[in-house]
Amino acid sequence: MYHTEVLRVNENHPNAFIIERAASLLREGQVVVFPTETVYGLGGDAMQPQALKRIFAAKERPYSDPLIVHIADVEALELLVTTLPEQAKLLANMFWPGPLTMILPASPRVPKLVTAGLSTVAVRMPRHAVALALIRATGSPIAAPSANRFMHVSPTTAQHALTDLDGRVPLILDSGPCEVGVESTVLDLGAPIPTVLRPGGISLEALQHILPEVVYHKTLSLEKQDEHKAQTAPGQLLTHYAPSVPTFLFEGPTQAVDRAMLAEIQSRQAQNERVGVLIADEDIPTFAISGARIYTLGSASEPGQIATNLFAGLRTLEEAGVQSILCRSFTEQGLGLAIRDRLRKAAGGKVISVNLD
Ligand code: TXA
Ligand code: MG
Repeated sequence: MYHTEVLRVNENHPNAFIIERAASLLREGQVVVFPTETVYGLGGDAMQPQALKRIFAAKERPYSDPLIVHIADVEALELLVTTLPEQAKLLANMFWPGPLTMILPASPRVPKLVTAGLSTVAVRMPRHAVALALIRATGSPIAAPSANRFMHVSPTTAQHALTDLDGRVPLILDSGPCEVGVESTVLDLGAPIPTVLRPGGISLEALQHILPEVVYHKTLSLEKQDEHKAQTAPGQLLTHYAPSVPTFLFEGPTQAVDRAMLAEIQSRQAQNERVGVLIADEDIPTFAISGARIYTLGSASEPGQIATNLFAGLRTLEEAGVQSILCRSFTEQGLGLAIRDRLRKAAGGKVISVNLD
C-alpha cells in the first residue's frame, strides 16, 4: 500500500520541480499516473521489467494484454523498433504528437512484459505538455495503459484515477480534465493492409486522407473478441470499458430511440429502479420530466464534446447510484466511430436496435 499523493500540474507550463519528482520515481522503477490528451495513463519505465510488473499489479491487468509505449521524440523509435515502414513515417509526421498509436515491429530490447510476447510493439507520442515533459525528464520511454482498474472505464480526470488506484500508486499528476476523452486510435501497420484495431482520437477519415488503404473492421472488436484473446484486438473484451452498472445502448433513428428509451425508463421505474440516461443537450426537453437521472454529454452535432464527456458521464451516473444506465447513439462520422465503440463496450453487448414504424 502507498499513500497516494496528488499534485496539481499546470497543463501548459508544467512545473519542472514536480516533473522531476515524478521522473525520479519512474527512474527508480516506480509507477506514476499522468495526464495525456486522451485519458490519464499509469506510467512506468518501459525498459524496466519491475516497473512494468507494478503497472499490471496496480491495475490487476492480465499479462496477456500488451502496453503502449509513449515517446517524446521520433529518435526514441531507434530503441523500440527494428524497422520503420514508410507509412509510419508519413503518419508520424502528420499526427504526432497526438492520439495515434502505431503497431510496429518490436526490437528485441523491448521487454516481453510490454509486448505480451508479440513480435510487435505499440508506440505513440502524446501531445500533452505534462506527458512530454515527464518522458523527457525520465530519459526513457514510458509504458502506460489507461489509469483505471482492469475492466473499468478509462479515467479522464485525476479524481477518476484516484478512485480506481488510491493506495496502489505513489503519485498522481493532476492537470484537470483530458481534452480528447477517448483513447488513442490503435493502427496495426504490421498487417498486410493497415488496420485500425481500436478507433480513437484520430478519426478513420483523417488516417485515410493520408493512407487511403487504411481499413477498420467494425465487427472485429465485437464478434472475434474471444478468438483473439488479448493479442491483437485492443480493448478486445466487449465489457472492457464497462461501468459497474448494467448499461444499455439504443441505436436507430433519434425519434425511435427517444421513444424506446422513455418506455424503458417507465417500465424500470415501475419496478422501483433508479435509472440514469446519457443524452445530448438537444434531448433535454424529451427526458426532463422522465424522472431519470440525466447526464448530458454536449451537443449531438459535436462529436468532440461527446467524446470529451463520455467517460465522466458513465462514472458520474455510476457514482450517483443508478441501477441501470440507458444511452442513445450518435453519428459514426469522425470521432463518432470511437464513441460508438466505447458505448458498445460499456453496454457489453446490450445493444437495442429500434426503428420507426
Ligand atoms: O490513449 C491511449 O492510448 C491511452 C493513453 C494513456 O495513452 N492508453 C491506453 O492504453 O489506452 P491501454 O493499455 O488501455 O490500451 C492499449 C491497447 C490495449 O488494448 C492493447 O491490447 C493494445 O493497445 N496493444 C498494445 N500493444 C499491442 C500490440 N503489439 N498489438 C496489438 N495491440 C496492442
Ligand atoms: Mg485501457
